[in-house]
Amino acid sequence: MFQLLKTEVKARRGVFTCPHGTVQTPVFMNVGTCGAIKGAVSAHDLKEIGCQIELSNTYHLHLRPGDDVVRQMGGLHKFMDWDGPMLTDSGGFQVFSLSGLRKITEEGVTFASHIDGKRIFMGPEESMRIQSNLGSDIAMAFDECVENPAPYDYVKASCERTARWLDRCAVEHRKLNEAPGCVNPGQMLFGINQGGTYADLRKWHMDEIAKLDCDGYAIGGLAVGEPTQTMYDIIEAVEPHMPKEKPRYLMGVGTPSNIIEGVARGVDFFDCVMPARNARHGKLYTWEGTINIKNEKYKLDSRPIDPTCNCPVCRSFSRAYLRHLLTAGEMLAMRLAVLHNLHFYNELMLRIREALDQGRFEAFRQKFSGKLDRPAA
Ligand code: GUN
Ligand code: ZN
Repeated sequence: MFQLLKTEVKARRGVFTCPHGTVQTPVFMNVGTCGAIKGAVSAHDLKEIGCQIELSNTYHLHLRPGDDVVRQMGGLHKFMDWDGPMLTDSGGFQVFSLSGLRKITEEGVTFASHIDGKRIFMGPEESMRIQSNLGSDIAMAFDECVENPAPYDYVKASCERTARWLDRCAVEHRKLNEAPGCVNPGQMLFGINQGGTYADLRKWHMDEIAKLDCDGYAIGGLAVGEPTQTMYDIIEAVEPHMPKEKPRYLMGVGTPSNIIEGVARGVDFFDCVMPARNARHGKLYTWEGTINIKNEKYKLDSRPIDPTCNCPVCRSFSRAYLRHLLTAGEMLAMRLAVLHNLHFYNELMLRIREALDQGRFEAFRQKFSGKLDRPAA
């Protein structure tokens, strides 16, 4: 269930309700690909850094430990001890970005596991069954994510097939939710818009999948090679075709500025591995811009990463200590850096929501869009 509370031009402030709770939007989903956040961060830590909704991956959990194992352990919520809202991606992106040789047919995709090379088949029905076994609150449709740029004819054929795959996902999803012993009978299904960088294909595909009355709609196939402005143009082209009363999710995006610009164009949900990945390389976010904690100039800096941040890391540790840990290759460095960056992203969304609540989102955007992605002065 999605309720729109307020809008400012295209930007939306809403509340989304799913079986494991309520999510205030716009929201950033914290990525726990394999049922853990990379950098030794547990579901318990997520609570402390303001995470509202966690995201895991069908592809990874199917390969290891196996969704049958997760199901027998009572579902992914219980397995990882996260009792809040959870979304699972369908595998439709990871199959294309991670696996070796793959073959796409009308039925689905045959690919080689990135772990042991084993041949595996996944189609819409398999993806729905895996996500049903995991028991997430939101299952994502099985799609093909085409890298940009790609030839028009290929993208057209691909997004027509992705539309047909969504029909199959919807049928299988309904059946699974109604089956006895279903881990999460209230699981929702989000459709995914594709169409590469071609506005006409994007609009056609969106109109097509909107007919299915999914619980929400995502824009996929962006931030995969196209210039940032092209990504914004595509969002602007698709947005008027997305149902107003359903949540909208921009998949795999992005930097703080990309998120602010996405919100300005009517997006409600985001996810990205960037804050955790950057953290592991020492790139940390502050409200003055980014810093690289490995820099010599922080050797004797007793200030926290961001003096205005109230995350568990900034409340206790200095830049000098963090720099030392990272330079020494201590595992704790990863953990602390990831905690701060994820807290920053969750705090960014909180401030976006506050700005929307108070009707000053445009001023917020002017002040922070661009700035947060650049190195601090
Ligand atoms: N994550 C980022 N982009 C995509 C996409 O296009 N499809 C899916 N399923 N996941 C994504
Ligand atoms: Zn902090």
